[in-house]
Amino acid sequence: MSFDVTKVRKDFPIFERTIRDGKKLVYLDSGATSQKPLSVIEAESNFYKFTNAAVHRGAHQLAEEATDSYEGARLKVANFLGAKEEEIVFTKNATESLNLVAYAMGNAQPGSRFALTSKDQIVVTEMEHHANLIPWQQLAARTGAELKWFEVTPEGRLDLSAINSIITENTKVVALTHQSNVLGTINPLEAITARAHEVGAVVVLDACQSVPHMPIDVKKLNVDFLAFSGHKALGPTGVGVLWSSVFEELPPFLFGGSMIETVTMTSATWAPAPRKFEAGVPNMAQAVGLGAALDYLTEIGMQSIFDHEVELTGYLMNGLLQIPELSIVGPQNTDARGGSVSFTVGHIHPHDLGQYLDSQGVAVRTGHHCAWPLTRKLGVPATTRASLYLYNDESDCDALFAAITGAQKYFA
Ligand SMILES: Cc1ncc(COP(=O)(O)O)c(C=O)c1O
Repeated sequence: MSFDVTKVRKDFPIFERTIRDGKKLVYLDSGATSQKPLSVIEAESNFYKFTNAAVHRGAHQLAEEATDSYEGARLKVANFLGAKEEEIVFTKNATESLNLVAYAMGNAQPGSRFALTSKDQIVVTEMEHHANLIPWQQLAARTGAELKWFEVTPEGRLDLSAINSIITENTKVVALTHQSNVLGTINPLEAITARAHEVGAVVVLDACQSVPHMPIDVKKLNVDFLAFSGHKALGPTGVGVLWSSVFEELPPFLFGGSMIETVTMTSATWAPAPRKFEAGVPNMAQAVGLGAALDYLTEIGMQSIFDHEVELTGYLMNGLLQIPELSIVGPQNTDARGGSVSFTVGHIHPHDLGQYLDSQGVAVRTGHHCAWPLTRKLGVPATTRASLYLYNDESDCDALFAAITGAQKYFA
């Protein structure tokens, strides 16, 4: 292990508390949201304590400092992704980032590369989080475009065998997740982006579960849009990111202050990106907190975090598979897979299991994980999901194994 998890945990105030009558907090729900190091909490609160003012507007020192902090956070995000500052838009979360793209495409003038008609197709996958499915369903409904998708194999991988008939000359958008929040599967982007670009479609990548966990260089991904949420990457809630290299060609989604160039009583023109997509006073303190989160991750090193998680995922899966009647849903080994591990345990309903695990201090997620079509396809009503991050270690996995065994006795 290339960093010291015990030392890392000391940076996170929440691990000082206990839960359920003095039990150690075993937090295995980072796929839903991550915990925050003190440096992030302080960066956000220091913004309010010392710098608070509306950015890009006031003619005073605080406004100048607030603008520097906010734009400094944008530069940190850009550096983290290997991108340029003007390619980074701050949103509320990944859900808003993805909706931004879908709504903005809906606003595109007829004839633009982004405008859709009933002759066009939108391609998604069966393993999408609702955040990267429903906006496209709705865009299809508004424009008459056809929604198509890649299916998921029983092993939890995308079935690309019919790629050329799924992505066709009529495809305008291919929207997919980088890493499944349910299965942990890391999708093979190369074949998909190559085919999408061959037919002139844009690729929208939901990187919610990849950006926090692995090194990302947008230049190497060959996608057109990438979305992630700050709160899953040690950052505050209320801030997300949308990266794109084609912002200039996309019309705005929200209209109002800060996003304009000129305004008359009857018309307006738009500021260049990223301002064009950041109408209103933005989430300044949260963006600054996200900047601190990315500093923290960078200091530890994304490759080290990824390696740690792969090793720990192997330990987690091995231990889970020793438990009688437990089935892991999705890839059964650590090849091209991240640290979200979903499973079922015999006849015990995941909600009952989650409650029992909670009574033992183990926090997991249960349900369909906002990917209902996927759980339906997998033929399970719901699953229990343990998801790992840099502050987890083998003792957390051991606590989970012991609690599941306890649940089996309790529900026998
Ligand atoms: C793969 C994936 N996409 C999108 C989202 C939506 O993220 P948010 O709720 O922060 O917008 C999530 C959250 O769980 C996710 O796991």
